[in-house]
Amino acid sequence: MRKLFRKKSIESILSSHENLSENHQLHRNLTVTDLTAFGIAAVIGAGIFSTIGKACFSGGPGVVFLFVFTAIASGFTAMCYAEFASRIPVSGSAYTYAYVSFGEVFAWVIGWALIMEYSIGNIAVAISWSEYFLSLLRNLGLFVPDWLTIDYGSAQRAFEQNLTTTYASAWTTAPMIGNLRIIFNLPATIINILITIVVYIGIKESKTLSNLMVLLKVIVILLVICIGFFFVDGANWNPFMPNGFSGVMASVSSVFFAYIGFDAISTTAEECRNPKRDLPRGMFYSLAICTVLYILLALVLTGMITYTSLDVGDPWAFVFNERGLNWIGGVVSISAIVAMTSVLLVFQMGQPRIWMSMSRDGLMPNKFSEIHPTYKTPSFATIVTGFVVAIPLFFFDYNFIIDFTSISTLFAFVLVCAGTLLLPKAEKDSTKFSLPWIPARIVMPIGCAGLLLWGCTFGSYHFSELFHLLPEDKEFKLFGVNIFSYADENVRKISLVIFYLILIGMTVLSVLKNYTLIPVLGLLSCLYLLTSMNIHNWIYFLIWMLIGLIIYLGYSQKRSKLYR
Ligand code: ALA
Repeated sequence: MRKLFRKKSIESILSSHENLSENHQLHRNLTVTDLTAFGIAAVIGAGIFSTIGKACFSGGPGVVFLFVFTAIASGFTAMCYAEFASRIPVSGSAYTYAYVSFGEVFAWVIGWALIMEYSIGNIAVAISWSEYFLSLLRNLGLFVPDWLTIDYGSAQRAFEQNLTTTYASAWTTAPMIGNLRIIFNLPATIINILITIVVYIGIKESKTLSNLMVLLKVIVILLVICIGFFFVDGANWNPFMPNGFSGVMASVSSVFFAYIGFDAISTTAEECRNPKRDLPRGMFYSLAICTVLYILLALVLTGMITYTSLDVGDPWAFVFNERGLNWIGGVVSISAIVAMTSVLLVFQMGQPRIWMSMSRDGLMPNKFSEIHPTYKTPSFATIVTGFVVAIPLFFFDYNFIIDFTSISTLFAFVLVCAGTLLLPKAEKDSTKFSLPWIPARIVMPIGCAGLLLWGCTFGSYHFSELFHLLPEDKEFKLFGVNIFSYADENVRKISLVIFYLILIGMTVLSVLKNYTLIPVLGLLSCLYLLTSMNIHNWIYFLIWMLIGLIIYLGYSQKRSKLYR
């Protein structure tokens, strides 16, 4: 059992990194401006250009509150990432941090969850990219056959449900080889191949391209905010929360997806000129800029049109076209394509670097830490990432991927915040970032009481309702077989009860162990966001984790360098 929790020490990580041969080291050429641009490149993408529509549709203008709350939760987490990144400035991100604080099995679990964030998240971005690209082609009078625009599963489902969408027509018009229909998302596949090539060739080229794309997307977003502002009709903000607090909370995955990415900065630790100082700064600057832009964008979008019209995949093009400003719709489409390209680029760079760290530790085959002799990039891991994004593109549904990515990333954030609490105390060093010391033992008891009172008064359920479960009205099916019955509301109620218990537990621990406040708040706010996940998200997430554990126990544990 002790083997599972064997830990690395910060000193051993730093010294083994210093001893890496030239062939295993990356180029150090990223500055704080590059890192901030890198963060914005990773954060602003499919979330704000696409999933915001769905979020506003279910939550109304009140979804702005969720943007603020998610920014706060991400901010606390960013501070924890910053503390780790400044103490352990090597690639590997949350994976490396968990190795130090919780031990090997947790490190593996986080590395496994991060595949969801980086690779699977990129599938959703590639699909959104393809949607905006196809709509741009349509505006130019160019048409791609339907069977080259979507995944196989969605086409089949649309056909079986007798829908009359392009999805269903893809099924009926697709060419066939024997009994197999040829249906796949061609634009998404092509962009994935191109991105893989750029990332394979190297960080320098990627950096220049990424900075240019960031500049363009920020300029277009500012343009959208300024022009959209003149079309805002205050009447659209009334009612502000048409479906109440639970309507707002139903959008957690969509809103949180928009914030995912600031942590990707920490995977470039070995390519920064001054990682201890610049990594934390890059994270804060990018998160702050994105938060301000998101809040303004959400207000403008819900002010320009009634929230009930926003259940579309390209809300910005739609809203400007509705106002007769088709040229702005076109500009927004181009900028959305650019924005999502930069997200793809950053995430496709992050994944191989995490695998590289896992491979150096022996948890993955040696090939994954091989550095290309000329390009100085983790070449094999980069190619594998390309395949991991490309293959599921053929099968997976967009909404499923958004939920799956959000739940895994939130889980990784919870562990990073908890890990910060377990770090040994460090000497004060003015060249490094360190978390401000705020005694949780004073704040948490008051905060916990206030939160319980607030939750039971203004939250989705009154305290007495939490324990009143509704009749189960749905079947959970796996491969067509009924596994168990459930009711959506019960899942949320049970999640909330668990959250309140953890809240009380953390309050007690804060008093007993004299924790500092920020990580406690980060952990609790991410856990709170997790309470809105549905049963499908949880079950598939747990299955994914189980597969990860089996691989760890069967392969990685025995090959771990700590074991040897
Ligand atoms: N935050 C990134 C996006 O919205 C993942 O595309």
